[in-house]
Amino acid sequence: MQILDGKLVAQAVKNDLKIKVDALKEKGKKTPHLAAVLVGNNGASETYVASKVKTCVEIGYQSTLIRFDADVEEHVLLQKIQELNADDNIDGILVQLPLPKQVAEEKVITTIAAEKDVDGFHPANIGKMIQGQPAYIPATPYGILLLLEHYKIETKGKHAVVIGRSNIVGRPISILLSQNTPTGNCTVTLCHSHTRNLEAICLQADIIVAALGKPEFLTADMVKEGAIVIDVGITRVEDKTKKKGYAIKGDVHFETVAPKCSYITPVPGGVGAMTIAALMQNTYLAATQ
Ligand code: GUN
Repeated sequence: MQILDGKLVAQAVKNDLKIKVDALKEKGKKTPHLAAVLVGNNGASETYVASKVKTCVEIGYQSTLIRFDADVEEHVLLQKIQELNADDNIDGILVQLPLPKQVAEEKVITTIAAEKDVDGFHPANIGKMIQGQPAYIPATPYGILLLLEHYKIETKGKHAVVIGRSNIVGRPISILLSQNTPTGNCTVTLCHSHTRNLEAICLQADIIVAALGKPEFLTADMVKEGAIVIDVGITRVEDKTKKKGYAIKGDVHFETVAPKCSYITPVPGGVGAMTIAALMQNTYLAATQ
């Protein structure tokens, strides 16, 4: 069993970007600038956005954090996005999800200019991605592909089972794994809450991507010997023994699943770390294209 070390690979991606940004600076060119919009004070969202901003600083990007109260009116948020779209100094825009009920996520996503949509959530980017055209690929699926690529994991002809059909992870990764690319050519089964015989389907999988957001859902009896397991879950679970009062759990019961795997991502230090690296990669593209 080999651990797919997301922290290590993310660091390599970030180092590479830093070299490129230093080169831009030397040539007197503008450095990439990411605008992050955070609404409300959801603890997990705060942590993610803080990590994204911190990573910008590490690499040498400019970043701007724009905060709104949880009760912000939709039109105020949309107005801000339009301002960011029109601002030539801003290369990439991300609005951290989820958003409060009074704001329609769909409207927010479609208001972001497609060429600044470094999250890859805009329908124009999703459409291009599906057709295999150059596009911003959503950060978590992109991070998974970078991880597979780094460890030279052969995906061709493998049966990949994706659990979870979210727009952010499950659906895009299922498409990407099926495409005719070096990290694709899988036969993909996309499972969700109405899937029957999930255990039996998972047992047929060469690759399992667990992206349903249920802590320790995937257990050893659902995984065949030698499978590759990618754990996308990052749920906060109350744990009074921890200083913060919670522990971070993946969607995979790591202790029992790991011994059966050829490769597995840990939580933390797996896909989560790669998500931010992939976002930084998209932001570099947005600034230099
Ligand atoms: N919420 C959970 N994952 C993501 C992500 O990748 N991007 C944004 N903007 N919000 C998220």
